[in-house]
Amino acid sequence: MIANELNPVATTILHATLDFPARFGLDLLDDIKRWGDQIVSQVEEEMLDVTPCSPLPETERQKLERVVRGEPELMRLYGQTEHDQNGILYCRMVKCPSCGGEAPLLNSFWLSKAGGDMWGVKVVPQTDKTVTFEVYEAPGGRGPNGENPEDATVSRGVGQCAHCRQAISGDEIKAQARGESRHGTWWDRVYAVHAVRMEPKMDARGRPQRYATGERAGEIKTGKVKFFRPPTAKDEAALVEAKRRLDENWSRWENADLIPTETILTGSKTAARACARWRWR
Ligand SMILES: C[S@@+](CC[C@H](N)C(=O)[O-])C[C@H]1O[C@@H](n2cnc3c(N)ncnc32)[C@H](O)[C@@H]1O
Ligand SMILES: [Zn+2]
Repeated sequence: MIANELNPVATTILHATLDFPARFGLDLLDDIKRWGDQIVSQVEEEMLDVTPCSPLPETERQKLERVVRGEPELMRLYGQTEHDQNGILYCRMVKCPSCGGEAPLLNSFWLSKAGGDMWGVKVVPQTDKTVTFEVYEAPGGRGPNGENPEDATVSRGVGQCAHCRQAISGDEIKAQARGESRHGTWWDRVYAVHAVRMEPKMDARGRPQRYATGERAGEIKTGKVKFFRPPTAKDEAALVEAKRRLDENWSRWENADLIPTETILTGSKTAARACARWRWR
């Protein structure tokens, strides 16, 4: 078999999924399991402080409770923390020139519109001129309290302050981006986390389905449930720790050519708009 691949990651995957199984067959299986488990547990341990799993939000706990009909053992198994994080969503923050408040710039309050899984985010202004964020489900295009995810705090380059509702001009936003405004320099802030929890599959009698045969015989069958939640103090601490690790290792990683710092040549998508906010579809 002959293949040509430019990308080292894709090359490794092709070797591992096409070439090695054909060449070594089932003999490889035990080695793969052993080394795979070792790598996973080592990476999990090292990454624990920068990839936190948070307690399930109350709304997700209640959804689970309905599915498992309040069964305490299943609540203990699946109702504690999320299983994984799928994405961390950031927005730009500017200082409002009118009131000095912290103003997030979101060009839409939609978090997801994918296949009926509709979620929005709400900016909640605080009396100390900061903001917090809440998430909500918007099944019919509206949140439970009439929130409209089509709303935004920035439109055509002009912002709107979440506190005093005054417009924040495009020139002011650009000045804060360049660090040339007397009101402040813009910064990034996490406004939502896309997380995953596990949920047991239930049978018609309200009991968890189990594998009947195979290696996993007896184990409960589970599925993944994706949800959004607002960031927690733990998430913020993890990002601070990640930044600290990056700064600490920067020169070593740069010398090892692990950080791409080279200029991207003009024409290689340099004119494409950088993704201001990540969106899950
Ligand atoms: C859709 S992915 C396929 C990945 C993998 N080769 C596979 O078959 O699963 C397309 C791949 O084409 C590779 N590629 C693009 N230009 C190439 C080139 N000139 N020579 C070799 N590989 C190239 C990219 O690195 C990318 O991984
Ligand atoms: Zn304001």
